[in-house]
Amino acid sequence: MALRRDGSMNATPLHQLVYTSAYRAGRVHSELQALRAILSVSRRNNLAAGVTGFLIFDRDSFVQVLEGPRETLEATMARIEQDDRHRDVTVIGIRPIETRAFQAWTMGGCHRTPQQQPIFAAHGILDRIDRSKVSFETVVSLARDLSAQASPQG
Ligand SMILES: Cc1cc2nc3c(=O)[nH]c(=O)nc-3n(C[C@H](O)[C@H](O)[C@H](O)COP(=O)(O)O)c2cc1C
Repeated sequence: MALRRDGSMNATPLHQLVYTSAYRAGRVHSELQALRAILSVSRRNNLAAGVTGFLIFDRDSFVQVLEGPRETLEATMARIEQDDRHRDVTVIGIRPIETRAFQAWTMGGCHRTPQQQPIFAAHGILDRIDRSKVSFETVVSLARDLSAQASPQG
């Protein structure tokens, strides 16, 4: 067992995973209700599993950063992939990390607002997120900037 810089003990190195998917509207929930429900379950599960991250909801797209031990991320992704609130789940990449970028968030999240436009524009995203083009690094740094502006997780 190694003592990691974030203070946790874990035999497996931390990884960061980024994926994109397409939102599938449900009949019961509005977009905001859907996001709230996803974040609420995610926070409960991720707290127990040692997963952190951030979820961006931009009109018809989700992009999500997940951090944790690799096998935990794989188990979490296996559940997420089966979720019928989205489709076309595409993992952009997974890489080892030294420290978590979203230490404070068992799952932060936001629904894109016009007020966030300067942050998206600073990452070259003027219109909606193009899931086929957006890069791993862009998603992580965009999510970092959005998380710095988001209200604390409650
Ligand atoms: C866009 C999206 C992101 C999600 N992110 C997570 C997550 O970070 N962690 C998680 O446990 N479940 C996440 N889920 C929910 C899972 O798909 C699944 O519904 C949930 O893990 C089931 O948990 P339960 O068995 O405790 O009800 C996400 C779902 C969607 C649609």
